[in-house]
Amino acid sequence: MVDIVIKEGRIVTPTDIYEADIGIKDGKIVEIARNIEAKAEQVIDASGKYVLPGAIDPHTHMEMPFMGTTSADDFETGTIAAAFGGVTTIIDFAIQPKGKSFMDTIEIWRSKADPKVVIDYSLHAAVTDLNEERMAELPKVLDYGVTSFKLFMPYRKESLMSDDGRLYAMLDASREHRFLVQVHAENAPVLEYLVEKFLKEGKKTPEYHALSRPNFVEGEAIQRAIYLAHATNGNLYIVHMSTKEGLVAVAESLNKGFPVYAETCPHYLVLTEEKYYGPDGRHYVMSPPLRSRADIEVLWKGLASEKIVTVGSDHCPFNSEQKAMGKDDFTKIPNGVPGTEVIIPILYSEGVRRDIITINQLVKFTSYNVAKLFGLYPRKGTIAVGADADITILDPDYEMELSVENLHTKIDYSIYDGMKVKGVPITTICRGKPIVLNREFVGKKGEGQFIPRSRFTGL
Ligand code: URP
Ligand code: ZN
Ligand code: ZN
Repeated sequence: MVDIVIKEGRIVTPTDIYEADIGIKDGKIVEIARNIEAKAEQVIDASGKYVLPGAIDPHTHMEMPFMGTTSADDFETGTIAAAFGGVTTIIDFAIQPKGKSFMDTIEIWRSKADPKVVIDYSLHAAVTDLNEERMAELPKVLDYGVTSFKLFMPYRKESLMSDDGRLYAMLDASREHRFLVQVHAENAPVLEYLVEKFLKEGKKTPEYHALSRPNFVEGEAIQRAIYLAHATNGNLYIVHMSTKEGLVAVAESLNKGFPVYAETCPHYLVLTEEKYYGPDGRHYVMSPPLRSRADIEVLWKGLASEKIVTVGSDHCPFNSEQKAMGKDDFTKIPNGVPGTEVIIPILYSEGVRRDIITINQLVKFTSYNVAKLFGLYPRKGTIAVGADADITILDPDYEMELSVENLHTKIDYSIYDGMKVKGVPITTICRGKPIVLNREFVGKKGEGQFIPRSRFTGL
């Protein structure tokens, strides 16, 4: 007797697509076979659908204190939105308050997340105050299961920024202690200079957010981070890469045989900088900003050639009232947009349906590669006997408009309004429990678990 049998779906792995049933018991996959005859408490018919390993969103900011406010989705609403997008695990950033240890920071984030999450989650440590004591704390944090550390190259005013010396120190340590260093790569002095210049000229509307962060601001910072990674032989992951300049820098490193792992986000794959000139320009303010149509094409090529290896959402939504904090000054607009719910629909609709990427690649970018890089594999990131039963059933014919009514993030507008997708997750199962079943939420607050991660071993 098993708990659930998923019948007749097309199972997708990084390399294969095959039709089989999946048996689930006690939260694990216990059988994969052409025809499972064991009795099951629940049978889920997946005929005509794709069965994917649950997506792992490596980049979320739920209830994050930022720029004088807090991101609008908490760990409950944010993980419900994630589950509707086929996500079964998020990795959120525990942002170190100045003066606090990493372990205290992790405790703060666990006390926010544990009672609320409807799917599994893990944490990265976001480093804002690095000193000898914090360096000495690294082994303890790694043993606890937090094995990736994000450094922000910009955000001086927001007290998040790390200088190149600290980035160098973490990259150097990452080799010996086997962790991943994630960087938000933008050249702070240059963008700060441009921001001040525009403000002095009275240029305060949202497009000046983008104009103060031109492509080279990201490209130069990515090059510099890669240079430091080469110098230290460190383990480098570029978060939310948005430009062709960034991709060129990553490709150069890969061509030299030095691995650098790049992530992009759904908004950089479909939206352009023209949005800043519209009436709701501030709703689209995130860092780095939206780019040109040419950048979008290059990012898709980066995915097709697997120079970009993951797609994370950078889910950090603010409602229209919060965005209005910057109605007279773009520097006061809280930076961030929603996205965890649209990763799979956008990759499937705009990527797989248009033959730019394959569905096997979609599985790599959203699940397998993330699990490998962030120490969750083989528990997660795969459909195999013994793995957690984290499963997304995608209906390739399901059509949906990405409107405020159809999406589950708590905010009161959609940055994708009017955009239609075909190919949507309809059922999401986390550790053997349905969380979304045929587009109905059936999960429970607090049933997600904190998942400790292993140290970095590469892709
Ligand atoms: O604008 C963004 N990306 N907001 C979230 C914080 C970050 O930089 O990742
Ligand atoms: Zn960032
Ligand atoms: Zn982020």
